[in-house]
Amino acid sequence: MITANTRLLGVFGNPVSQSLSPLIHNAAIARAGFDAVYLAFKTESANQATESIRAMGMAGANITIPFKVSIINSMDKLHVTARQIGAVNTIVNNKGILTGYNTDASGAIMALKQRTKIKGKHAVVLGAGGAARAVTYGLIQEGAMVTVANRTVSRAKALARHFSCDFVPLARAGSLAADILINTTSVGMGTNKAPIKLRHRYDVVFDIVYKPKTTELLRQAARKGAATIPGLDMLVYQAAESFRLWFGKEPDVRLMKAVAARHSQ
Ligand code: ATR
Repeated sequence: MITANTRLLGVFGNPVSQSLSPLIHNAAIARAGFDAVYLAFKTESANQATESIRAMGMAGANITIPFKVSIINSMDKLHVTARQIGAVNTIVNNKGILTGYNTDASGAIMALKQRTKIKGKHAVVLGAGGAARAVTYGLIQEGAMVTVANRTVSRAKALARHFSCDFVPLARAGSLAADILINTTSVGMGTNKAPIKLRHRYDVVFDIVYKPKTTELLRQAARKGAATIPGLDMLVYQAAESFRLWFGKEPDVRLMKAVAARHSQ
């Protein structure tokens, strides 16, 4: 029920109409019995997002493409993980003080840990954007060795320098001998294209793209005998971590997964 005391949360991005976050969060909010609602807001700038959060007295928000990096400058406080990654995807509003967090890294690691050990493994990360930074940070924290592969090699080099890891051009990633491959590029979103042709048999292949549920990269990986992890897992785990930050309570993660799966085709 919406009341005069209903707490407002939401996701800011551009575009944002495809976001599954309102469905996932509102289901979890209803299950927990909280007087809160979560909406999607298309915004023109990071500043517009933070001004709106303050003006409407929102309890918190998610930030998505393309503002995860630029939003950093308008935070009052930054959690250490967000600072080290250089991107914010979750904001908590505590009496007008906005603190930026990053739950993408822990969401990705949680998704991986369901299928594989990470410590001591060699992982190849495709991409060099904000998602790649979060995933690379998480992997290194967990004790993996990382090689970053990107179409624009200068971006791979910059990311590799930031995290003290290796880098290669994207075209070489398909045959690089390693244990885990993670796609953080947008290639495959809404299409049947894959960012690379898989030649090496990775033990585990994780694609953060969640639409379609089974991407072309995951199909190639399954044909080679790899264990595959769909993007929906990370989407749900990062959402669950945001929920914990806003409400201080454990959400019904199984319900969140079921809702995401139902709406991702
Ligand atoms: P995000 O913050 O979500 O990671 P981003 O910063 O725009 O988004 O990064 C998108 C990533 O997808 C980049 O690594 C990009 O490669 P470039 O740095 O070369 O642009 C990658 N990407 C997007 N479209 C691609 C394509 N068609 N082929 C290969 N890589 C692509």
